[in-house]
Amino acid sequence: MLTIESLNQYYGGSHILRDVSMTVPESRLTVLLGRNGVGKTTLLRCLMGVVPTKSGTVAWRDTSLTKLPTHARVAHGLAYVPQGRDIFPRLTVEENLLVGAASKKRLPSGVPDHIYTLFPVLKDMKGRRGGDLSGGQQQQLAIGRALMSDPQLLILDEPTEGIQPSIIQDIGRTLRQLVEEMSLTVLLVEQYYDFAKAIADGYWVMRRGEIVAGGAGADMDADGVREMIAV
Ligand SMILES: Nc1ncnc2c1ncn2[C@@H]1O[C@H](COP(=O)(O)OP(=O)(O)O)[C@@H](O)[C@H]1O
Ligand SMILES: [Mg+2]
Repeated sequence: MLTIESLNQYYGGSHILRDVSMTVPESRLTVLLGRNGVGKTTLLRCLMGVVPTKSGTVAWRDTSLTKLPTHARVAHGLAYVPQGRDIFPRLTVEENLLVGAASKKRLPSGVPDHIYTLFPVLKDMKGRRGGDLSGGQQQQLAIGRALMSDPQLLILDEPTEGIQPSIIQDIGRTLRQLVEEMSLTVLLVEQYYDFAKAIADGYWVMRRGEIVAGGAGADMDADGVREMIAV
């Protein structure tokens, strides 16, 4: 389980995360929903140690992550697909994937088959530059790159943003497959309600830096989650 307790974060004088406490159970897909600007990305950056936290704790399984630098969190099984994907446009698809394994003690000689099995399009395009891929293909590349570190907990920030519907469906199927067949734990930040609802085992809702609701994925309609995040 990922356990976040009483996390607080500020940018300058503004209080961005307010006593955020939440759990992410293992081998489940948990979505964190919230409108633009409520602090979702900031929370993920705190989880990865990209920005320091003012107070509160983060633990994964039996390990406290609170004081660990980002690379140590990766070594403990966390992987992060950032909002906007951040792929390297001038590197090839294969090179982009190999960057994802840079934290491993033993560097792989190539991209393992299971990555290309999950994303056949990446195999077809492995010699192309990252910048030549469509938005959806870049998102698949970013997820594939994160999987190269053999994570236990995969954290994704709005992977559906600006992507065509058919690839959104593919990504949803792949995430479910990772949970069901490989027992991965997934934390997905989303604003696209129907996508989240279709694949979530559990949910949390954030508003103005606070967690205001949480429950089972199957109860999202009944709990009025769509209305909570409607703009
Ligand atoms: N680097 C930064 N410096 C100052 N304010 C920031 C920074 N990044 C984000 N913010 C502000 O923090 C709030 C939360 O942002 P963010 O975590 O990106 O929200 P979300 O991902 O939910 O859209 C917003 O008001 C945003 O303007
Ligand atoms: Mg964001």
